[in-house]
Amino acid sequence: MPVILINGQPAEHISVLDRGFQYGDGLFETLRVSAGKPRRWAQHMARLTRGCQRLRITMPEPALLWSEAMALCAGKTDAVLKIVVTRGRGERGYAPPVPAVTTRVLSLSSAVAFPSLYYREGVSVRVCDTRLSGNPALAGIKHLNRLEQVLARAEWQDKGRDSEVAEGLMLDNNNNVIEGTMSNLFCVQEGEGGSILKTPSLVHCGVKGITRENVIRVAGAAGISVQETTLGLTDLYRSQELFLCNTLMGIWPVRRLGEHHFTVGPVTRQLSQALESLRD
Ligand SMILES: Cc1ncc(COP(=O)(O)O)c(C=O)c1O
Repeated sequence: MPVILINGQPAEHISVLDRGFQYGDGLFETLRVSAGKPRRWAQHMARLTRGCQRLRITMPEPALLWSEAMALCAGKTDAVLKIVVTRGRGERGYAPPVPAVTTRVLSLSSAVAFPSLYYREGVSVRVCDTRLSGNPALAGIKHLNRLEQVLARAEWQDKGRDSEVAEGLMLDNNNNVIEGTMSNLFCVQEGEGGSILKTPSLVHCGVKGITRENVIRVAGAAGISVQETTLGLTDLYRSQELFLCNTLMGIWPVRRLGEHHFTVGPVTRQLSQALESLRD
């Protein structure tokens, strides 16, 4: 069975004229596959649709994407499905081609196994030097331009230090904490009426993760109040609990951020369990 489908056909090569290659003119989704099918399909399709609307790219029919995804995922118990959608081929220059024919690429790869220690005791996180630039037109969606994340991720690869660091935290140019290089961030603070879950507002930059959406949902269902707000590093250092989340890792409690230490707390545990037991 092929592991890559380009516009529905088994293939490995794409035109150099494709605007995804030329300009990063497109979007992507990374999905967890279990029991032969992608999980949280409707949510991933909803974000892809929003991204296509924002960039004015014609969204492929979700039913078509589903049938191609199912062909790739058949028989897979644990895998990763990546869907890339681009504006398709164009001539030289930025002007979007008219008409444009969307390119779709579905690829399947092996599941990522993270150390169980990450879940039991939490991960070490560095504060990245690379900043995220603000642009409300691109905030929230999962577009293909990921150079800031590439630079940030290289910070603890190139230097050969921070070997135990599992993720890096990224700030914007106003010193607001936004997210991890590949994940969203939550902190737990004690309020007058109990624990408050806070997560950075993603109006200016950042990716609105599917897992973030689900954490907010399960927290609400558990009666935990949630605030999407402006957070600085000192707000994080003052928090009782911190955790990061994405589709592939679920929830990673943070045990160290820079020189600050945290323990895996009850709210993080409760939300991890609730997230795992979400259907779909
Ligand atoms: C920059 C960034 N933010 C957040 C996320 C989390 O998104 P999701 O929960 O949809 O996996 C990702 C996932 O890859 C990401 O790359």
